[in-house]
Amino acid sequence: MNAAIPANAPNLKGRILIGGTVHESGYARKQVFSQSTAIGTMGPTLIGETPNVDKELFLSAVDAARIAWARGQGPWPLARTEERLAAVTQFRDRMLPLRKQICQLLMWEIGKSWVDAQSEFDRTITYINDTLEEVKQLERDASRFQFAGGLLAQIRRAPLGVTLCMGPFNYPLNETFTTLIPALIMGNVLVVKVPRYGQLFWDLLLEPFRDCFPAGVVNILNGHGREIVGPAVKTGLIDVLAFIGSSPVANRIKQEHPHPNRFRSILGLDAKNPAIVLADCDLDLAVNECLRGSLSFNGQRCTALKLLFVHRSLVFEFTRRFVLKVDALKCGMPWEPDVQITPLPDTEKPAYLTSLIADAQSRGAKLANPDRGGRVDGALFYPAVLTDVPLTARLAQEEQFGPVVPIVPFDDVGTVLTYMVESKYGAQVSLFGSNPEVIGPLIDRLVNQVCRINLNTQCQRGPDVFPFTGRKDSAEGTLSVYDALRSFSIRSMVAAKQDASGKTLIRGILDGDTSRFLSTNIVL
Ligand code: G3H
Repeated sequence: MNAAIPANAPNLKGRILIGGTVHESGYARKQVFSQSTAIGTMGPTLIGETPNVDKELFLSAVDAARIAWARGQGPWPLARTEERLAAVTQFRDRMLPLRKQICQLLMWEIGKSWVDAQSEFDRTITYINDTLEEVKQLERDASRFQFAGGLLAQIRRAPLGVTLCMGPFNYPLNETFTTLIPALIMGNVLVVKVPRYGQLFWDLLLEPFRDCFPAGVVNILNGHGREIVGPAVKTGLIDVLAFIGSSPVANRIKQEHPHPNRFRSILGLDAKNPAIVLADCDLDLAVNECLRGSLSFNGQRCTALKLLFVHRSLVFEFTRRFVLKVDALKCGMPWEPDVQITPLPDTEKPAYLTSLIADAQSRGAKLANPDRGGRVDGALFYPAVLTDVPLTARLAQEEQFGPVVPIVPFDDVGTVLTYMVESKYGAQVSLFGSNPEVIGPLIDRLVNQVCRINLNTQCQRGPDVFPFTGRKDSAEGTLSVYDALRSFSIRSMVAAKQDASGKTLIRGILDGDTSRFLSTNIVL
């Protein structure tokens, strides 16, 4: 068990990686504080510095990526798959010994519990391993020739270009890597803009990235998003946007590109996943799943349950059991054993959540756990449960992304469906019930509103073999180990007439192993 407090934080100086060189001076920095100590009489603790580069320096990172890409002629986009697999494997092996330090920095900076921080690291390693295997399978499948219309052809996947990669603060390692790793392994080059929290651990990865990939293939830095990202996209040098964050920010960024048709986006955005608790559900199961679904990592998950629709016939009993469990959750610092609710990294969040509660109450909602629900102690926000929340309340419309759980009673599931049809969100839903005659037709309606229907279980992203996507303002493109490799590449093919000269030429290329692309070599 690691219970080290931030006083032991390494003195990280906010370095950056551009064009194969790690820099530690010549640009502004910002102090990074752990809000995890900001409870009671204690304040935040200074735990390091992060780069705060200006527009010019950020543009120089984009330029380093441009040079590495070299219009698709650089060593990385031209590398053989085996070479890319070897580089990513080497990087993973350099990352493994950093596990404890990375997890500590995650814990201190974003308040993720020690257990959850380790789980974030471990699932990231699993994701890398699964991606390595999936690439091999992709290559095996692509090595076969196809015959059609008198032509023989080989179809493979080729990289897209310079990728701007921006992950979220709630999974700054895992979610960033679920775009970064597939983009990289498919031969793209990267500019990584580090999330606004969860910044410090990147410093530990600069040398592994520098040593395992050709210069300029991975560039890592940070600065004020509004000042640096728009100008970078405006250059037209960025081909792909991989962004996990809010839809207004994604919209702003996309509009900057001078050639929108050349600009691909893979986006994970807002969500307001409802739970629909039907009258015939297993109540204890529904309560437990809704608890985990709404309050794991303080509700700071895009997949969190953010609105609980409960059939009026059991809303009283559901709320009673739910509140008992919510008020029993251990709240405290992220390194405390068994802690479940931890300080929020965003210092503006407690005031925002408080305003959502006040708005809901002004519209008739009631605080179901007044003993401690909604109490603020520094960065710690005690989870609040609101009942009788009207759909006009901001809490029913905005993504709270924090430990406030709204309960909306319903009589007719049609009202829930109408809410979902009219909602701008379209990620997931959880359905609690037992009658196939009711659930079956509901599924048919819900599949056209969201992209994952969870039966008697909470919403979640994993396992990563499943597609992770959404409709409307919730996502663009699909991520999974399988899909991400396709999202960050394009099919490109070689075709020749199926005649003697066509066959002879192709045979010559294959036998002489003269092409990295046109090849039947199997990656083992
Ligand atoms: O914040 C969004 C994450 O992808 C959620 O992942 O459902 O595994 O917590 P999770």
